[in-house]
Amino acid sequence: HGTSQINASGHLEIGGCDVTDLKAKFGTPLYIVDEELVRKRCRQYVEAFKASGLRFQVAYASKAFCVMAMCRIAEEEDMSLDVVSDGELYTALQAGFPVKRIHFHGNNKTIEEMEMAIDAGIGCFVVDNLVELHVLDGVAASKNATVNILLRVTPGVEAHTHEYISTGQTDSKFGFDIGNGSAFEAVKLAISLSNLNVLGLHSHIGSQIFEVNGFEMAVQRVAEFAIRVKEELNYRFQVVNLGGGFGIRYVDGDTPLEVSHYVKAITDAVKTHFAAWGEELPEIWVEPGRSIVGDAGTTLYTVGTSKDIPGVRKYVAVDGGMTDNPRPALYESKYEAVLANRAKDAIEETVSIAGKCCESGDMLIWDLELPKVQNGDLLAVSCTGAYNYSMASNYNRIRRPAVVFVQQGESDLVVRRESLQNIVGNDLVPERISKQTI
Ligand code: LLP
Repeated sequence: HGTSQINASGHLEIGGCDVTDLKAKFGTPLYIVDEELVRKRCRQYVEAFKASGLRFQVAYASKAFCVMAMCRIAEEEDMSLDVVSDGELYTALQAGFPVKRIHFHGNNKTIEEMEMAIDAGIGCFVVDNLVELHVLDGVAASKNATVNILLRVTPGVEAHTHEYISTGQTDSKFGFDIGNGSAFEAVKLAISLSNLNVLGLHSHIGSQIFEVNGFEMAVQRVAEFAIRVKEELNYRFQVVNLGGGFGIRYVDGDTPLEVSHYVKAITDAVKTHFAAWGEELPEIWVEPGRSIVGDAGTTLYTVGTSKDIPGVRKYVAVDGGMTDNPRPALYESKYEAVLANRAKDAIEETVSIAGKCCESGDMLIWDLELPKVQNGDLLAVSCTGAYNYSMASNYNRIRRPAVVFVQQGESDLVVRRESLQNIVGNDLVPERISKQTI
């Protein structure tokens, strides 16, 4: 997919860059991002919304992969940006992302985060709960500011990868429940608070969703609620945000739809369920993360040791693992990989790919078919663009990999590989326990 191909030397090439050259230049493990594919995904959303005729914003959910260069691309592609912490906000601001197009999420924003966002002139907050409504109103008042907010509601649709269920959603740490009346009370309160300007509602039903039914159902519930608020409170929402969650293909059996299908399902449902609205339809926002960057990312590893247990299994270890990709250990996520320096060689063996952490759960892929693997070979794991770098850790004091953007045969470093100095950079040894002066 994207700009990946196997070149004449049998090497994997991404964005016109041979991965053996990338290894020579940047080392491994290495996150490689196909910049053209990221831009293509952004454009698919923007174009599908334009075709709907509705007013819209597509906010890239930066939690999927938040670095300054990515924020620049999101801006260039006319996206808005969803952040959930001061760290993501700071990254966006440092990248010069237009602050009016930044939306601040999260179920437990600190006062310092609220202040930082208000001082910067944030576009809007997505308010999650009653405590936050009061605190945010107070913080805004202390700054003589009026801040735009969306209220996060749980529409009673909970989407899992394949199925969705309409119950159980009440038991969620996020948002105001539409079903039990708490959302209605929250709207009443929010519109009475003088330093908050209620723009509308937000709903996010889950992640890695393949079907459109859950989104359509969420639109219906949110629309019914918005219409009730308009009738009973005479308050008209200007914005409805339907969150993210659009699935991607990691392995065979994953069956996502085209981006345009998801957008059309949502915009059609808006047109249907807001029919009784009687005025210009609300502006529709979405927040895709995974589907913008997921399949554009590849992680390149060098193969090290192996252990063959005859009749049982052959383990092949790479120079990274759960520190750069915790998803298999956390969610049992499945990935595909190729032997990137001998991609045309015939398949000869089935191996399981282990990471280098001191933990038996540090396995990246079980039962992967590869050519005969040797020490020094390169393994490329695909679809690692989302929730890999952003969830990476320093467990075992392993350094986080570098990130490069590739396009048209050029490779640009966007995150340096961590150094050993970085590893001890925040450590302090109190004099009391130091044997000698450092
Ligand atoms: N908006 C909100 C409010 C969210 O909570 C999320 C994801 C998104 C948007 C973006 O969803 P996406 O389009 O990326 O599915 N760490 C997990 C995924 C957690 C998603 C959390 N929220 C993973 O690695 O699969």
